[in-house]
Amino acid sequence: MGHGIGPQNFDDAFALVVRYSPVTMDEVASAGKVAFHRERIEAYLRGEPVYPVSMELDITSQCTRQCEDCPSSRSQYHHELSMGFVRELFASLGGRVKGLLLSGGEATIYPEFAEVLALARREGFEDIAIVTNGSRLHEEQVAEALMEHASTIRISLYDWDEYACGGIQPMLAKIEALRRRIDRCGSGLKIGVSALTTRERAPRLAEIGEAVHAAGAHWIYYHPMCVGWSDGHLKQLDQAGVVESVTEYQARDANGFGIFIASGRYGHGQVAFDGYHSAHFLLVIGADGVNYLGAEVKYQDRYALADVAGDWRTDFLHRPERLEKIRSIDSRSYTALSSRHRGVLYSDLIERMKGGGGTPGNGAAYSFPHIL
Ligand SMILES: C[S@@+](CC[C@H](N)C(=O)[O-])C[C@H]1O[C@@H](n2cnc3c(N)ncnc32)[C@H](O)[C@@H]1O
Repeated sequence: MGHGIGPQNFDDAFALVVRYSPVTMDEVASAGKVAFHRERIEAYLRGEPVYPVSMELDITSQCTRQCEDCPSSRSQYHHELSMGFVRELFASLGGRVKGLLLSGGEATIYPEFAEVLALARREGFEDIAIVTNGSRLHEEQVAEALMEHASTIRISLYDWDEYACGGIQPMLAKIEALRRRIDRCGSGLKIGVSALTTRERAPRLAEIGEAVHAAGAHWIYYHPMCVGWSDGHLKQLDQAGVVESVTEYQARDANGFGIFIASGRYGHGQVAFDGYHSAHFLLVIGADGVNYLGAEVKYQDRYALADVAGDWRTDFLHRPERLEKIRSIDSRSYTALSSRHRGVLYSDLIERMKGGGGTPGNGAAYSFPHIL
């Protein structure tokens, strides 16, 4: 096993694979996941006001890492949402919006992180996911709160190049420890991992999957590394060979471990939309309290839809100015189009449904159906 990935060696890895018995996982993401909520899309296409399926919320933009081309580095002043605002937001949307995805910044360092998770459950969010760099998973309070209230975590693996920041071993050890706790307590928490892909990394994608599987993760999700976060002109790095490599791995190793790739993100077919429809289904709010069009343009002023925290109104979702701004963004002018981020693909799909097209992905089975 090259590049120093994995538990001490391959034998250890396989011993651990055997130890963790298979858990069947349905898809966690796809270019068509929004179509799972067909009734809501049809209501929207009839012109009715709809509530989003998912809210992606940055409770803080502070982080334990400083990555060079970070999607959140635009947030040059550090922001943190107040608990008062989080309470208002959850009370207003919980139950109607059933998916909550906490991102950041690093959500686990928010001082009231455990309280936010408990509150989210109480207010009626059904699927609760946390995107994390994993640095705080060993902390008692963080692990307890996740095991009690969260549906899944998605750990972003950044350091799988041999010598970067100590390599991947410390993260694998944290995954192992958390998985042991989950099994001991009978918690339903799932451990997911996300790996950023490039053409150079294509030959190593299975290796990283095997390593996190062996450590006790339940699933892995591959997604394209992008550049251009600083000005919203987002592009994917070369992804040649990635889908082929993951498809080959899927055919070989599932064994109950979820191996996922949203292949639509890697396609080259044309995408087109008149109005960024996805913003009605995936609500993205930054740590500055501003609602942005999509996750790929968070903290880009030109794609701000509403200052939700600064000008709190319970009807902010359906105010005419917000709806007009969403309608005004089309695929011809959208600067982040070639990222083929999920909002772009969902908008394209809904545009086709608007024209009477089919609903690809509608028959798929999903884990965490409300996390778009
Ligand atoms: C900026 S992180 C913030 C949340 C948390 N601190 C973490 O590290 O996962 C949010 C997401 O951005 C993704 N991300 C980071 N750098 C990226 C890049 N260059 N291209 C595409 N996605 C990236 C990560 O994989 C993660 O899913």
